[in-house]
Amino acid sequence: MSERKERKKLLEVKNIKVEFGSKKKKFTAIDGVSFDIYEGETFGLVGESGSGKTTIGRAIIRINEVTDGEILYDGERISGNITQEMDHKVIENIQMIFQDPMASLNERAKVDYIISEGIYNLHKHKDEEDRKRMVEQALLDVGLLPEFASRFPHEFSGGQRQRIGIARALVMEPKLIIADEPISALDVSIRAQVLNLLSELQKKKGFTYLFIAHDLSIVRFISDRVAVIHKGKIVELAETEKLYEHPLHPYTRALLSAIPQPDPAIERQKTIEVYDPACHHYETDRPQWVEIEEGHYVLANQEEQETYKEMLRQT
Ligand SMILES: Nc1ncnc2c1ncn2[C@@H]1O[C@H](COP(=O)(O)OP(=O)(O)O)[C@@H](O)[C@H]1O
Ligand SMILES: [Mg+2]
Repeated sequence: MSERKERKKLLEVKNIKVEFGSKKKKFTAIDGVSFDIYEGETFGLVGESGSGKTTIGRAIIRINEVTDGEILYDGERISGNITQEMDHKVIENIQMIFQDPMASLNERAKVDYIISEGIYNLHKHKDEEDRKRMVEQALLDVGLLPEFASRFPHEFSGGQRQRIGIARALVMEPKLIIADEPISALDVSIRAQVLNLLSELQKKKGFTYLFIAHDLSIVRFISDRVAVIHKGKIVELAETEKLYEHPLHPYTRALLSAIPQPDPAIERQKTIEVYDPACHHYETDRPQWVEIEEGHYVLANQEEQETYKEMLRQT
């Protein structure tokens, strides 16, 4: 867990909007999302498929354009028009690990090239020998043999391929790693290994993680703080234990109640809470992103804020 005091904001996402489609038919995928990520922490972003998690990750690394709001890295704006120097700073400091290791590696390239691509682009190497050393080190760091550099992706299992994806990110010596559902495409038996690798790397290299997942069960054990996203809006954000012990927003509660309980007797009696936005009267009393208690944010209108405050008083 990171210290409460003197925490440095490594990333600041301020009220961003991301839209897809043409002028005529616009679809707002991300709508007024704000959060900060502190240096050294693991920040979990959770929401169901299609809620906008990947879009946020891609907006941070500048693949998706932000049409409103801004993103700061280390205090400097990295969204919108920036200098080439700044662009390089983003590539070097922020790397992304993708969900599907079967689709995210170039099949026709050798592992050596796949891992080196970022090095080549930014001319990070002094000479060929230096580049080879960096690739070898990255492979060793993810628990693979340096000899694997001369092989092709199809020669590897899903878990090994995800390690190659991690090595490709590591070689840039980033500070912030966006791990986009890095284990959901893997066999259950190897998920823990990849999670452990990510957590060991964090200890060894001091990485900051934005860890994206579609359910709350994994994030609980690795995140310092968690944000819950629903249909392009973050509905709640808090320190992990706070969120699990005192969830306020109905969507957070619905997600929590969907986690299977190890005890079958409890599991059978459980009723799944269903979040129905239609129940809320938002036309006259608009929901706002508010800090309801220290470090605990929720999207709520006036009436809901009163309810939540009362809920917190009773705990
Ligand atoms: N390039 C794109 N063009 C159009 N729509 C997109 C694009 N990328 C994502 N979307 C849409 O934006 C929404 C959020 O997608 P995404 O961020 O991939 O969700 P998640 O990662 O949470 O599953 C979805 O409705 C998706 O269809
Ligand atoms: Mg996604």
